[in-house]
Amino acid sequence: MYCLGIEGTAHTISIGLTEGTRPLVTASKMYSPKEGGIHPREAADHHSIHVASLVEEALEKAGMSRKDIGLVAFSQGPGLGPCLRVAATAARALSISIGCPIMGVNHCVAHLEAGALTTDAEDPVLLYASGGNTQVIAFSNGRFRVFGETIDIGIGNMLDKFGRELGMPFPAGPVLEKAAASSDEYIPLPYSVKGMDVSFSGILTAARVLHERGASVEALANSIQETTFAMLVEVTERAMAHIGKEEVLLGGGVARNKRLQEMLEIMARERGARCFVPPPELLVDNGTMIAMTGVLMYDSGLRMKMEETVVNQRFRTDGVEVTWR
Ligand code: ATP
Ligand code: FE2
Repeated sequence: MYCLGIEGTAHTISIGLTEGTRPLVTASKMYSPKEGGIHPREAADHHSIHVASLVEEALEKAGMSRKDIGLVAFSQGPGLGPCLRVAATAARALSISIGCPIMGVNHCVAHLEAGALTTDAEDPVLLYASGGNTQVIAFSNGRFRVFGETIDIGIGNMLDKFGRELGMPFPAGPVLEKAAASSDEYIPLPYSVKGMDVSFSGILTAARVLHERGASVEALANSIQETTFAMLVEVTERAMAHIGKEEVLLGGGVARNKRLQEMLEIMARERGARCFVPPPELLVDNGTMIAMTGVLMYDSGLRMKMEETVVNQRFRTDGVEVTWR
């Protein structure tokens, strides 16, 4: 069965096609604000302008037509309401016009399942570090549970905000990674781990102040990475020890960062555990991970009525009933 997945939780609108859970093609467009942060309604307008042509582009790339599609999956939450509604509306329209079933997918769970399906990870602890989300997730007692998370902003948002103030283009994460690679100066920043949770806004404030006082961008980028990645690795390791898992998986756009990958690999090696990094195109938000997860759900016997396809901005990871594991 071919599945078409639509991702639209935040700044990216993306269409993925899969054959069963095997990825075929992805076609994406990212909204980037001219200035300031992401404006939900502007992002939603961007998505509605591009969604139909991305469907055509994906089908064309795969050499398929609409009637080949056996399932339409979409990101049901969590995310920005206006953006979610564009993806859901497009999914409903496609499902009705094709006459095929529809499946709403939890975005965070999709990061984990797509990562597990494209690596050798079977039952990993996921470190999901993206723009809007930062969570440590694992499957335990029948549900995906959040073992630790940010109590304020996502790590990627923090990097993007800091970069924006320095005049860097959006997204700033990769630019800061480059800057960090050319420095080994470490300036202490607030190490903000609270129990199993982390926070980033204090680090952002401290970095701002240090920059005003003349600290170099390179040294600050390096210090931000070393501090925040150590926090994430610490919480991830504690989750692994607590629930006795021997695998760790990375997900989210920030997981593209080579230093974060390296630090997580070192932690895993020292514990005798295995570390997995999915292909980079599946780390950022994409429709393919939504399609892959939709197929897992459908194959386990789940069915969704049209009235159950309302979006859920605060769709919790542990709110998903897992019938496929
Ligand atoms: P969410 O998954 O929560 O909806 P999102 O749409 O912002 O959030 P992604 O597309 O997964 O997330 O990732 C985008 C984020 O990843 C941005 O904040 C960007 O700065 C960050 N990022 C991308 N590449 C790197 C890198 N090499 N180093 C650090 N951060 C990076
Ligand atoms: Fe994401």
